[in-house]
Amino acid sequence: MDARPIGVFDSGLGGLTAVRSLRQILPEENLIYFGDTARVPYGGRSKETLLKYARQDVRFLRSFDLKAILIACGTVSTTSLDTLQAENDLPIVGVVEPTCRRALLVTKNKKVGIIATLASIRSGAYEATLRRLDPDVEVIGKPCPLFVPLVENGRIQRGDVVIETVAKEYLETLKATGIDTLILGCTHYPLLTDIISDVMGPDVTLVSAGEESAFELKRMLKAEGLRADERCQGEPEFYVSDRPEDFERIASVFLRENMRHTARRINIDQY
Ligand code: DGL
Repeated sequence: MDARPIGVFDSGLGGLTAVRSLRQILPEENLIYFGDTARVPYGGRSKETLLKYARQDVRFLRSFDLKAILIACGTVSTTSLDTLQAENDLPIVGVVEPTCRRALLVTKNKKVGIIATLASIRSGAYEATLRRLDPDVEVIGKPCPLFVPLVENGRIQRGDVVIETVAKEYLETLKATGIDTLILGCTHYPLLTDIISDVMGPDVTLVSAGEESAFELKRMLKAEGLRADERCQGEPEFYVSDRPEDFERIASVFLRENMRHTARRINIDQY
């Protein structure tokens, strides 16, 4: 049994969709979440900047005695995972491989779409992983750079003309390609499930990066003998790099539970 917490991070609040899955799948685990709200969005930044940010995020999380880290961020997973794994002597799980495995289990016509940030699509990581796992798969990628700022601003409801217009603009051409599976390759996007489903229609299955990586983490903890005692109730702690004031309200939406927790602000430049 290992009661040490798991570190989870993202550019902002999107990674909370992975926290929600973790709290369902591994309720006994303690979690330390860091959202880099001072520097969100990450999605349009260069590989060098992303690695710098990701190293700082990991250094902050490692100021706690952690047993593992989940990178609840597609952008960091697609650009910096290998380096972070090589530099750190604890297990680090990213979102790309587990999500691709799930998509390949789901697709029937082997036409898989992937929507993610600019940096993730530019990296080609999802595409390369899907092709490595199944050379016959056809992959169509599409960056959706306006989704993250709209989600961070709470524009996620059906009937919101701004998000619905943006979603149609991004997704209608993707739908026309005949994909039957769509990877939500950014952890912010599950908040837009209704909006995305409305455009893609019932014949396209959505696969969410955060949820699949939570299952992967569970498998890894079991294999390494790192699970916490299942009779315990784990607690999350939340840290952000900018105004914690709005955190409770917005985090309740992401977590789909009433937040009893407040977030603490840290200075990420110190790490
Ligand atoms: N939620 C993150 C991702 O999964 C980052 C989005 C962003 O900051 O642009 O890619």
